[in-house]
Amino acid sequence: MKPFRVRELSITDSEALLAFEIQNREWFESHIDARDPAFYTLTGVAEHIECYLSDFAIGAWHPFVIESDNGEIVGRANLKSIDSANSTAEVGYRIDQRACGQGLATLALKHLIQEAQMRWGLTQLVAYVYEANIGSKKVLGRCGFLLEPPATSAKAGDERRFVLSI
Ligand SMILES: CC(C)(COP(=O)(O)OP(=O)(O)OC[C@H]1O[C@@H](n2cnc3c(N)ncnc32)[C@H](O)[C@@H]1OP(=O)(O)O)[C@@H](O)C(=O)NCCC(=O)NCCS
Repeated sequence: MKPFRVRELSITDSEALLAFEIQNREWFESHIDARDPAFYTLTGVAEHIECYLSDFAIGAWHPFVIESDNGEIVGRANLKSIDSANSTAEVGYRIDQRACGQGLATLALKHLIQEAQMRWGLTQLVAYVYEANIGSKKVLGRCGFLLEPPATSAKAGDERRFVLSI
């Protein structure tokens, strides 16, 4: 059996997801925007999951988790803001600090690309990354994403926009 698998987020993931997010809160906040403090409760996470799954039901979002062979959540990856009319979506991912450096983000992003293509028929994916996030930029480059020149990026500031044409 493979030690890790990527699977869809489930309504029953509240406890495992809360443990994952609390364990890695400082780590994530050092790389990406902080969540609302109200998120870090069982109710907060349950509502978050419900919201993601309703967006999945209407074809706007496709949420995944990366699970270890003992059932622990060690990462998350999402196709976000799926725009069927323009065949585009945004990607996002985060990996447990203790599980980094083993190719999990690369595994997850490849999965997102495959789902984007096969299930949603998308032709373009975008990612927004802080300039200092070397690990994430490496993952994107490895999966074929190209850095868009800053002047043409929609988001200003320190974030960089990467694009993949599928
Ligand atoms: C960025 C992140 C997703 C990478 O996850 P990961 O599972 O470690 O990624 P991978 O193992 O697939 O690849 C990461 C690569 O970057 C390299 N890397 C990571 N940090 C690095 C650094 N500071 N300097 C140089 N290389 C670095 C790793 O060595 C690895 O390359 P290698 O396989 O050639 O050794 C993870 O660090 C994370 O969750 N960070 C916090 C949240 C976040 O930044 N999400 C992305 C928002 S855009």
